[in-house]
Amino acid sequence: MAIEATRAAYSRRAAEYIELLGSMDAVHPSDLQIVSTWARAVDGPIIDAGCGPGHWTDFLATQGSVVWGIDQVPEFIAHASSAYPTVDFANGSLEGVDAGSGSIGGVLSWYSLIDYEPSAIQNPLREFSRVIKLGGALLIGFFEDSLVNEFAHAVAPAYRWPVDAMSAELDSAGFDVLESTVRRTTGERAQATVSARRRNGL
Ligand SMILES: C[S@@+](CC[C@H](N)C(=O)[O-])C[C@H]1O[C@@H](n2cnc3c(N)ncnc32)[C@H](O)[C@@H]1O
Repeated sequence: MAIEATRAAYSRRAAEYIELLGSMDAVHPSDLQIVSTWARAVDGPIIDAGCGPGHWTDFLATQGSVVWGIDQVPEFIAHASSAYPTVDFANGSLEGVDAGSGSIGGVLSWYSLIDYEPSAIQNPLREFSRVIKLGGALLIGFFEDSLVNEFAHAVAPAYRWPVDAMSAELDSAGFDVLESTVRRTTGERAQATVSARRRNGL
């Protein structure tokens, strides 16, 4: 789905999204553990890329990270700025992050790549690669399946990825994959994480 159409879809349903998913109460304990442990090991500032309602950004700030959230949806940024006034949020694109090359310790991309058509996923990944310093960290969360395939996410069409295929994309964008997890729960979409380190060169 084109970026503008994705932005409009999230804008339209921002209030519902905030109500249903915009709090740490909605987060699975194992995700909390994965993100929390990852962030504690990051050396340098973190960008919560595609922060949505901002609850993860606030969680990381509370945990002690220097962190800010960016998102393309003004309704999310307005909500996040009001709900978490001590945390920084900005409207921004995953494809043109307002940060210098190599200036960021880590990027959290928590379900913010799910709407990308597979043929376009290198665009945000290479932008993450640009802003993350050598040796810096990337953590992504996404829906998992045995093949890359589109599904009807509640807000906008989205894609499930095998961990191997996502890992190959990360490799192409200049990352070494360090760890991955998959959580399969009956009656729910499988969920995956991949943690990677920015290497020297693509
Ligand atoms: C499924 S939501 C996840 C939000 C949040 N990370 C969470 O865990 O609740 C995906 C988010 O990514 C944002 N997003 C997707 N593509 C983006 C882009 N190209 N630039 C900025 N934000 C983007 C959407 O606006 C949306 O807020």
